[in-house]
Amino acid sequence: MSIFDLPLAVTARAGTNIALVKYWGKRDPNLNLPATGSLSLTLANFGSETTVRFAPDAEAPEGGDRISFDDAPAPPRFAERVRRFLNLVRQETRVGLPAEVATRNSVPTAAGLASSASGFAALALAASRAAGMKLAPRELSALARQGSGSAARSIFGGFVEMAAGERSDGSDACAQALLPAGAWDVRLVVAITAEGPKAIGSSQAMELTAKTSPYYAGWLQAVPQDLAAARAAVLTQDLVGLGRVAERSAMRMHACAMAADPPILYWNGATLAAMETVRRLRAAGTGAFFTVDAGPHVKVLCTARDAELVEPALAATPGVLRTLVLVPGPGAEVLREERR
Ligand code: PMV
Repeated sequence: MSIFDLPLAVTARAGTNIALVKYWGKRDPNLNLPATGSLSLTLANFGSETTVRFAPDAEAPEGGDRISFDDAPAPPRFAERVRRFLNLVRQETRVGLPAEVATRNSVPTAAGLASSASGFAALALAASRAAGMKLAPRELSALARQGSGSAARSIFGGFVEMAAGERSDGSDACAQALLPAGAWDVRLVVAITAEGPKAIGSSQAMELTAKTSPYYAGWLQAVPQDLAAARAAVLTQDLVGLGRVAERSAMRMHACAMAADPPILYWNGATLAAMETVRRLRAAGTGAFFTVDAGPHVKVLCTARDAELVEPALAATPGVLRTLVLVPGPGAEVLREERR
């Protein structure tokens, strides 16, 4: 393929997602292969928009990739992850050209919503198209996974299931759509309980958990049943069934991480207070169920109507700084292809 066959610039967007059956642990850290499957909900409005253009060497600064984030040069660690990801696309396509990458995030910083999920999903779509590849959604998902495990799920909209896969090359470690965004009008109400970055990144924490937590084997054993129960609940739109699995999956993931050495504790006082609010709402008859990711924020699954009760109750919980109400959204999509 010659550079003249390539689109000039491809812009793609993807929404972030929240796991209801958590991914925690890798079967192969190099290929970023998950040890278990997971199940999530992709969200509207909170996501990433990324433009990729493979530029002829002559136009590239010092022959390298030029990577920006929210209109400023990307922080070095983020730029390095993007560069490594672009190398995968370059290897696959033999497009040996440096790239210009511009990412904008609509995931509020420090909101505790995984921006790496939407970021690598948008990057996988934009970079593969800009390099002349037309991947099927499952192939795109397997590519996005190599940037971030949760990104594999953001390729699809609505409720999504990620398979751990069995192959050593990771080609079957990809996600698939379970139920489209418009089919079930649920909400995730987020209680933000702290500012600033998380204590320990998810990859490092997963590795420490797998190496040192005596509960890791139990965690791995429990996930397939949780996945089957969550899948059945999604397909029958059973909020109570799904909510129960989501809570127990989150508690098991955190229990497993807390038992690592040194222990990994993502929660703060307001995390526990928000969980208590959810239990109180439930005791009063509201169908609300929490999940917590690798951070202190609490995300509560409920119906669209109940979100009107859940949001003020969380906002009034001591230590909760802000709330957000999130709605299901579509999968990754190409917004623009500007050809030479
Ligand atoms: O995709 P990563 O490497 O950021 O890991 C995601 C880990 C959790 O958010 C805690 C769970 C999940 O399944 O998204």
